Amino acid sequence: MPSSGKVESQGWPKDVGIIALEVYFPSQYVDQTELEQFDGVSSGKYTVGLGQSKMGFCSDREDINSLCLTVVQRLVEKYNISYSDIGRLEVGTETIIDKSKSVKTVLMQLFEDSGNTNIEGIDTTNACYGGTAALFNALNWVESSSWDGRYAMVVAGDIAVYATGNARCTGGAGAVAMLVGPGAPLVLDRGVRGTHMQHVYDFYKPEMASEYPTVDGKLSIQCYLHALDKCYEVYSNRAQAEGIKAGHSLLDSADAFVFHSPYCRLVQKSLARLLLNDFLRDPSPDFEGKYAGLEGFKEVKLENTYFDRSVETSFLKASKEIYESKTKPGLLISNQVGNMYTPSVYGGLASFLSSRTLSDVAGKRVVLFSYGSGLAASMFSLSVSEDQSPGSPLEKLMSNMSKIPERLESRQKREPSVFADMMKLREDTHHLAPYSSVGSVEDLFPGTWFLTEVDNMHRRKYERKPLMSATDVNMADISQIKKTTVQQSQPVSVENSKNLIQATIRTQHRKL
Ligand SMILES: CC(C)(COP(=O)(O)OP(=O)(O)OC[C@H]1O[C@@H](n2cnc3c(N)ncnc32)[C@H](O)[C@@H]1OP(=O)(O)O)[C@@H](O)C(=O)NCCC(=O)NCCS
Repeated sequence: MPSSGKVESQGWPKDVGIIALEVYFPSQYVDQTELEQFDGVSSGKYTVGLGQSKMGFCSDREDINSLCLTVVQRLVEKYNISYSDIGRLEVGTETIIDKSKSVKTVLMQLFEDSGNTNIEGIDTTNACYGGTAALFNALNWVESSSWDGRYAMVVAGDIAVYATGNARCTGGAGAVAMLVGPGAPLVLDRGVRGTHMQHVYDFYKPEMASEYPTVDGKLSIQCYLHALDKCYEVYSNRAQAEGIKAGHSLLDSADAFVFHSPYCRLVQKSLARLLLNDFLRDPSPDFEGKYAGLEGFKEVKLENTYFDRSVETSFLKASKEIYESKTKPGLLISNQVGNMYTPSVYGGLASFLSSRTLSDVAGKRVVLFSYGSGLAASMFSLSVSEDQSPGSPLEKLMSNMSKIPERLESRQKREPSVFADMMKLREDTHHLAPYSSVGSVEDLFPGTWFLTEVDNMHRRKYERKPLMSATDVNMADISQIKKTTVQQSQPVSVENSKNLIQATIRTQHRKL
C-alpha cells in the first residue's frame, strides 16, 4: 500500500509514476516476409519499407475484455498486489465491443473476492491515445485531493485489425497494465507535458458493426508528424524551463525516445524529425559538427517537409547514431508484434527497459510520444529511479522486463492463410449472438483469459487457461513445461481448430 507516501495538504506525494508494468501479446504471429509473398506485394515492402518483422494476432477466443483480464491478473499475480489496495482503475482502448458497458466493469469480476468495489475510473477512448489519457487521469488522481492513499491501475489494450489491403500488415494486438502511485521507479516528470489536439479524419471507426477502421493512410502519417512537431515544441520549451533540456537540443539531454509505433520505419523518421526541429530552432547550428552537410535545409518550413524525400533522407542519416542508441531498442515489441494501438507506446517503454541492464537504466530519462488519430497527442517524460538495491521497485520492474525477449520467442508462427482465415472468421462473427468461440485454447499462453461464448443477450462469458505452476506466472518459463503438462481447459488442437474455423466460416456464410 502506498499510503505512507501521502502528504496531507503539504504538497504532492513524492515520486509519482509507474511502479509496475506488465505486457501481454498474443501467443501466435504471422511472419511479415511470408505475408509479403501471400499478399503479392514486392519483397521488402513490409519488412524494409515499414520495418516490421512479425505481426501478432488473436483468434476468436480473445477480445478486448479477455486481453485486459489477462494483463491485469498477470500484473497482480507477479507483483503480489492485493485487489483491495487499488482505488482507481482506468482503461484506455479503441476496441469497442459495447457502446455502453465499459471494459472496466468487466474487470471488476477480478475484484469480487476481495470485496473491493470502491474503485473509481472507467474507459477512455480516442484511437491509440486512450492509454495515455488513462495514465494521465491516474497520475492526476494520485496528485489530487481525491486520492485516498491507494494505488491506481491503468490498462491499455487493443486488437488492431484492418480490412484486406495495404493497411492490413500494420495490425497487431496486445495489452499493458501499469500500477501507478508514489515511490515509483519510473517517475513522471512534472510540468513538462506537451499536448496537441485537433479535428481531423485520418483514421476513425464510423462503422459500428465492423472491427475495421476507415483509414486515410497518407493523411494519418502527415497528422502524426505534425502532432509530433507541435508536442515537441511545447515539451522542449517546458523542459528547458524545468532544467531538463540543456542547450538547443533535447536529443542530447534525454537518454531514450519512445514513440507510439504504427510501424517501425515511421518511428525512425520521427526521431529524425526531432533533429530537424532542433536544427531549425538552433540560432547558430554547428555546421562543422552534428549538422554538417545540412546547411541547405536551414530555410525549410516544417509544414512543407512531411513527405520531402531530400529532407527525410538527410536527417535520417544525420540522426542514425542517436536512433540506434536511443530509439531502436524501444522498437522490439513493435517490430515483433505490430501496432498494439493504445499499448503501443508503453510496449515501447517496456522494450527499451528490456534492452538495458539495471545499472544502465538507473537515473536515466525517457521521453515518450503518444499519438491517437482524430487526433490527440502528447509528449511527456519520466525519470528512472537511482535505487538499484536488491528488492527495490526498480530491480523488480527490470527483472520482469528482462523476460520480454524470451516471451516473444516462445510464440508460435502461423501461415498467412491461417491468419487470413482468422481475420475472416472475426469479420463474420463480430457481434454475432449467440456464438461459441472455436479457436484453439491449447495455443494460448497459460494464464490467458479467453471467450467461451456470447449468449443470445450478447452477454460474454470467459474462462482462464490455468497456469502450469501456481508460483510461476512467467510465460517464457511456463512455455518450457507446457508441452509435458495436461491441459485443464478444453483442449482444441491446431488441426482441429483450423477445421473448426473453416467450418464456422462456411456456416456463418450460410447464416448471414
Ligand atoms: C502506412 C500505410 C499508409 C502504407 O501503405 P502503402 O501506401 O501501400 O505503402 P507505400 O507504398 O507508401 O510503402 C510503404 C513504404 O515502403 C517502401 N517500399 C515499398 N516497397 C518496398 C520494397 N519492395 N522494399 C523496400 N521498401 C519498399 C515505400 O517506398 C514506402 O516508403 P516511404 O514511407 O519511406 O515512402 C498503410 O499501411 C496504412 O494505411 N496503415 C495504417 C495507418 C497507419 O499506420 N498510419 C500511420 C500513422 S498513425
